[in-house]
Amino acid sequence: MINKEITINYEEYSGIDELPDQYKELCLEAENALNSSHSPYSKFRVGAALRLKSGRIVYGSNQENVAYPSGLCAERVALFTAGANYPEDPIIAMAVTAQTDLFKLTSPVTSCGSCLQVMVESEKKQNSPFDIILHCIDGPVIKTRGVKSFMPFLFDEGRLEK
Ligand code: THU
Repeated sequence: MINKEITINYEEYSGIDELPDQYKELCLEAENALNSSHSPYSKFRVGAALRLKSGRIVYGSNQENVAYPSGLCAERVALFTAGANYPEDPIIAMAVTAQTDLFKLTSPVTSCGSCLQVMVESEKKQNSPFDIILHCIDGPVIKTRGVKSFMPFLFDEGRLEK
C-alpha cells in the first residue's frame, strides 16, 4: 500500500474588491441572480452568473420544489440555460454566491457534486476549462481555473474507453 496525496491549487481573495475587475463584475451579476431564487423550503438563496466568450451574461438561481428532488441548483440552471440557448458560445467564467436571512455566511458557497459533474461536462463540451469564482458576500472569494481543482478524480469520457 502506498499513501498518496493530491494538492489542489486555488486563489483566495479577502473580498471582491481585491479581485480583478472582470471577476468582480461577474460576482455582482451572481448577486443579481439571487433575486430570482425560488427557495421557500431551504430559505438559502444561491445565484450564479456565467460570462460567455461573446460577453453575454447567463444567470441561474436555485429553483426549489415542494417535491424536493425536483428542484435544481443555481449552477446547473445557469449551465443548462447556456447549453440550451448558446451552445456555440463558450463559457469563460462562472461566479456563484449565496445568501440567507437565517445566519451570516462567512465563507464562499461550495458547489455540490452534481453541479461539479455538470461543470466537467460543460468544459469537456467546449474543450476548454473556465474560471470558477465562489463568492461570499462581505467575505472571502476563491477562484480556480477549471473544475479539476474541485474534482481531481473527475469522471470523464476517458473512463468509458478500454
Ligand atoms: N444549492 C445550490 O443552488 N447550489 C449549491 O452549490 C449548493 C446548494 C441550493 C440547493 C437548494 O435549493 C439550497 O441551495 C439548499 O441546499
